[in-house]
Order: sequence, then structure tokens, then C-alpha cells
Amino acid sequence: MRVVRTIEQLREATSFMRRTGQGPVGLVPTMGYLHDGHASLLRRAGEMCGTVVMSIFVNPIQFGPNEDYEAYPRDEQRDLELAEREGADIVFIPTVEVMYPRPIRSKITVSSLTTRLCGASRPGHFDGVTTVVAKLFNLVQPEYAFFGLKDAQQVAVLRQMVDDLNMNVEIIPCPIVRESDGLALSSRNVYLSAEERRQALVLSRSLQEARKAVEEGQAATTDEVRELLTSVISGSPLADIDYAEILTFPELEPLEGNFPLTRAEGEIIMALAVRFGRTRLIDNIIFTPKEVAALV
Ligand code: PAJ
Repeated sequence: MRVVRTIEQLREATSFMRRTGQGPVGLVPTMGYLHDGHASLLRRAGEMCGTVVMSIFVNPIQFGPNEDYEAYPRDEQRDLELAEREGADIVFIPTVEVMYPRPIRSKITVSSLTTRLCGASRPGHFDGVTTVVAKLFNLVQPEYAFFGLKDAQQVAVLRQMVDDLNMNVEIIPCPIVRESDGLALSSRNVYLSAEERRQALVLSRSLQEARKAVEEGQAATTDEVRELLTSVISGSPLADIDYAEILTFPELEPLEGNFPLTRAEGEIIMALAVRFGRTRLIDNIIFTPKEVAALV
């Protein structure tokens, strides 16, 4: 595994791999503090690609002024061990000065999709994500890029960017990796106290219950599902709901409150963001509601 820290080294390392027939090249962008969710992306990339490039960069321009950029957990040594173990060939670890040597004046904005869910509570966040990912695409020129559905809106936004701008890369969405009790893995889980960690289970549990209620016909409309989600989450006194939404996926279009979910054309997403103290956790499930009649 090669660790590169400059733009020149990165371009040279990836073009060498391609020139010597070691493609296709897969890219796994991360902000480090790696866990098994990131590892699952590396493994998927390894199955599809001859060369796997991982980037580790806590991207300042996707954090708001009152967010956790400074406090974001970092552990380069541990990250490199995981990357090596999970088959990364090239790891790119730039400093902020390498990625942004002068104030950036060009940004990519995907409209509409970025105004909902996390975009509504984190203004500017997705511009930071699309801009850094576009830079990484330009540097690595990967055939495939791997992203987790833990951040389903990020996947939808990046797909839109790639389609709109004819970027020559295929986005591969990968399933959410969870702890055995259901909590979605996240670098931010380390912020949780023991009691918050226990109560954080309410995210995955409420999503499971909502899905079951739809499939068993106990909740038929988006209003009913939203009520169910919020009432289950409110059972955890430390949980402070940022949003609990039901939208179409990947368009992220709202469904009318009284719209029967089983009539949705394609997939729907139930998405949550919930604060526990200073920690904001997200989770979601994406599924096609089955006709209730078909189950009876
Ligand atoms: P980060 O939060 O480090 O996540 C990197 C990738 O790992 C993302 O594609 C994310 O969806 C995926 N991931 C995180 N937790 C996961 C889990 N439990 N299961 C499956 N995949 C998971 O997302 C970012 O970084 C940044 O926004 C980035 C794309 C790197 C741009 O800066």
C-alpha cells in the first residue's frame, strides 16, 4: 500500500497503475476515523477494481461554523492499518493546504436535492461535499466511486452531479453497516455517552417499526408514518429530533401527507436526523412499499 500526501504524488501513482494495466481504478472518499462501514466500501471496491484508492481528508468546507470540524475524531495510524488490512492500494492523505492552497472560488452546487433533509439543517454542507468530491474525481479519474447509503442524500446528490456534468465515473452505492444491536456505524458515535449510546438505538428501532407498520397495513400514509416515527423517538428522553421525513428516492420529492405509501411508484426513503446532546446522528431505510393486499 502506498501513502501519498501531495497532488503530484497522487496523480503519478494513479496514472502509473492505469498505464501498467492495473485498472479499473476505484475511489473510496472518507474523512477518516475508519470503521467497518468504511471497510465495507473498500471490500466492495476490491471486488470490482484492480486498484483501490482511498482518500482520508476532513474537509473543512463541508462543516458549518458551529459544527464539529475541529473536534472531528482523527487517528491516522489506526486508519492506515485498517486501509492496509482491507486492501487499499493507494491512500491519499492531504493537508488542508494541499487541497485548498488558496481560498476556493469555484464551487459545485446541486440545486433542489440539497434543500431538504440534511441540506435544510446544514446550509452549504452539500456544496462542500460536491466540491471536494469533484476535486477528488479530477485528481484520481476513477472508473468507479464507492459511497455508503448511510448518507443516502449524499449518494443522490453526487449521482445528480455526475449525471448533470457528464463526469466519467460510476457511483456505486453500498449498504449501511450496523452494530449488532442496529446502531448504524459512524465516526461520530465516539461522542456518545453510555446513556446516549443506549438511547441512540431508537433511530434504527423506529425505522424498523415504521417499515413494519407500512408493510402490515397499520400505517398507510406519510402523516401516519411520520407520527409513528416521532412518537417512538420521543420515548427516548435524550433524543431531540432534527427531522423525520418520508420522501421518494433518489429524487427526494415530498409525498403528500395523506398519500398512501403503497401507491408510491418506486422506492421511498424514511430518513432521520436526531441529536443526542451535541451529537447529531442520521439513519434511514430505503424500500419499495409492498401492496398490503399482496401480503394478506
Ligand atoms: P465519511 O463520513 O468519512 O464517510 C465516508 C463514506 O463512508 C461515505 O460514503 C459514507 O456514506 C460511508 N459510511 C459511513 N458510515 C457507514 C456505514 N455505517 N455503512 C456504510 N457506509 C458508511 O461521507 C463523508 O465522509 C464525506 O462527506 C466525503 C464523501 C468523504 C466528502 O468529504
